[in-house]
Amino acid sequence: MTFDSVLTARRSVRGYLPQPLDPALIRTVFELASLAPSNCNVQPWETHVVSGDSLRALGAAMMDRARTGRPAAPDIPMSGGYTDVWRARQIGSAKALYGAMGIARDDHEGRTTAFLRNLDAFGAPHAAFVYLPAPFDLREAADLGGYAQTLMLAMASRGIASCAQGALSLYPELVREHLGLQEGPKLIMGIAFGLEDPDHPANAARTDRAALEDLVSFHG
Ligand SMILES: Cc1cc2nc3c(=O)[nH]c(=O)nc-3n(C[C@H](O)[C@H](O)[C@H](O)COP(=O)(O)O)c2cc1C
Repeated sequence: MTFDSVLTARRSVRGYLPQPLDPALIRTVFELASLAPSNCNVQPWETHVVSGDSLRALGAAMMDRARTGRPAAPDIPMSGGYTDVWRARQIGSAKALYGAMGIARDDHEGRTTAFLRNLDAFGAPHAAFVYLPAPFDLREAADLGGYAQTLMLAMASRGIASCAQGALSLYPELVREHLGLQEGPKLIMGIAFGLEDPDHPANAARTDRAALEDLVSFHG
């Protein structure tokens, strides 16, 4: 695959086949991801990969917690809601997803059910939970964005589907408890990965991108 075709092959996949990936292949894509650049090469990523029954049990616990209706307390607070052009883009991606799944705008139950699938990593056989170590903040969080994209591109180059998920960071206390982790590192996102289920309706969703002129200004 050319680099451009890897870039265009990656998209967010929200329905997976249950079969696990070869552990050696998983190691390879995480080794490739570690080539991502970072401020002063500190490589501020701490990643925990959870698979199979363990991931299903964690997903079930997070869905139960969400159903209580008690507010989530993520380590890194969610933005307070998008406005302006960002709101329009958010709506565009939601329309693409719910449209593909045949869920109407006023179908609150359908939307809730679709949202809850997030917490089970969309049924993926694996999920990576990505942490920002305790001393770090915004600058190093930027490093994590590069790390996550490098990982997802390495996956795409090998036919592995993925979806970055802020939703998997909503209940960090449950992830810590499940994995026996110390408090301190901040859970910033999860990344579901595995083989795409080509028949899942969610996977028919496609997003677009803003025009280059709206995103980049060229000076001088
Ligand atoms: C950091 C991050 C967090 C995301 N969180 C979620 C999420 O919780 N649930 C979800 O369905 N998609 C999530 N996405 C996927 C975005 O919706 C998706 O990347 C965007 O709509 C563009 O679509 P594409 O990835 O198919 O190109 C997330 C993406 C990123 C980069």
